[in-house]
Amino acid sequence: MYLIKQLLRRTYGGRRGAGGYNHHLSRSNTPGTQREECVISSPSVECSTGLESGSLSERYRSVRSTSEQICKPLTPEDCVIQSMPDASPIRWHLAHTTWFFETFVLKPNVPGYEPFHPAFEYLFNSYYNNVGEQFPRPKRGLLSRPGLSDVFDYRHAVDRAIANLFDRGGDEHTDLESIVELGLHHEQQHQELMLTDLKHLFFCNPLFPCYEPRATDFSITTSEIQWVTGAEGVRSIGHEGASFAYDNEGPRHEVLVHPHELSSRLVTCREFLEFMSDGGYRRPELWLSLGWQTRTEHGWQAPLYWHQVDGEWRRFSLAGLESVNPAEPVCHVSYFEADAFARWASCRLPTEQEWELMASDCPATEADNFLEAGHLHPAPATSNDHELPKQVFGDVWEWTSSPYIAYPGYQPPEGAIGEYNGKFMCNQQVLRGGSCASSRSHLRATYRNFFPPEARWQFSGIRLAR
Ligand SMILES: [Fe+2]
Repeated sequence: MYLIKQLLRRTYGGRRGAGGYNHHLSRSNTPGTQREECVISSPSVECSTGLESGSLSERYRSVRSTSEQICKPLTPEDCVIQSMPDASPIRWHLAHTTWFFETFVLKPNVPGYEPFHPAFEYLFNSYYNNVGEQFPRPKRGLLSRPGLSDVFDYRHAVDRAIANLFDRGGDEHTDLESIVELGLHHEQQHQELMLTDLKHLFFCNPLFPCYEPRATDFSITTSEIQWVTGAEGVRSIGHEGASFAYDNEGPRHEVLVHPHELSSRLVTCREFLEFMSDGGYRRPELWLSLGWQTRTEHGWQAPLYWHQVDGEWRRFSLAGLESVNPAEPVCHVSYFEADAFARWASCRLPTEQEWELMASDCPATEADNFLEAGHLHPAPATSNDHELPKQVFGDVWEWTSSPYIAYPGYQPPEGAIGEYNGKFMCNQQVLRGGSCASSRSHLRATYRNFFPPEARWQFSGIRLAR
């Protein structure tokens, strides 16, 4: 059984106190010993099972613990390299998520709070101009200091301060609760980024390192796509109510939806191989102009992480390099590739409105392939065709044809937190549904993810519409 699955299956009892960690990555000064301590064989700490249960302080400890669990199979060296400007070192994610709590929870709510280090506000601020200047994102991999153990010390100091706040009854304060809740969802977003950034880093290594071993069942077959009639007419989408959602998921509003059908499952590697064999990457008539230009500049011939060995396509996963599994959903394609595939298939991509109406009828369940399932890779659709559509949540983020723009009446929150989502509403596409690296408790039908159309390093795939 795989590491994260093992960890997430553990009973949630017996949590450690927020200040009680002694992370093994910072425990030893002997390189050989340290490396040995960092291998996969020693899972020992419980992990998050969800944000929807337990007190806020319990959920805080659980989510923070999950970030450290993700580091368990890693060496310190794995944690400090930046493989491209879009990705960040693991150590930076660990520090930045901590900076979020220090900046938005501790500094405003703890009188006389002394920052852990005065330079961290600059080093670990991602993009909040209202907070101050930021160290340049493309250079995050140039920081050899603070060391990894210093970053774990930072995490634990902030965890202790948050625990003290909770002990004073802080988690019953509504305003404080909402910002802590946001911080936990923010950290869950970064947990997914830790895994996708790590995957990109490992793919850059000709050794194709394995993060976590996984057995692929190549005997599974997937039935043909069926078409599911979607809701049409004037419908309502978007979040409303007291449960957590990001600001960009509302206000709930009416949309006019035209008659349409959605594919019963995600597009598979087998189908994408047919597109490739039919000249999909060589036929400009299938591509948007900007997509063709991007494909040409980057020399795309296949999805990201596909690697040809002796004429055979293999794909890299967090389990290493394997043959392409025809039955599994194609993954790590850009919006441009998804759009070209859809055109080749005489279909189109769904709008985000169509997707959300579909998802509203089939909420996420324990059976979906999220982080908690431990696969860290999209899985083939089951052959049970009685429950359609399939793979709505988990597996891969589904590109939609919708630009990431504000809903009618949207207002970003005041202050620095208003920079979280609103200022990115330009030149990005909406993706829906979460992936095998998303926490189940982090997703919902109204959740709007967004990435530039050329982005490929997230677990992004294709559902068709017509
Ligand atoms: Fe962030």
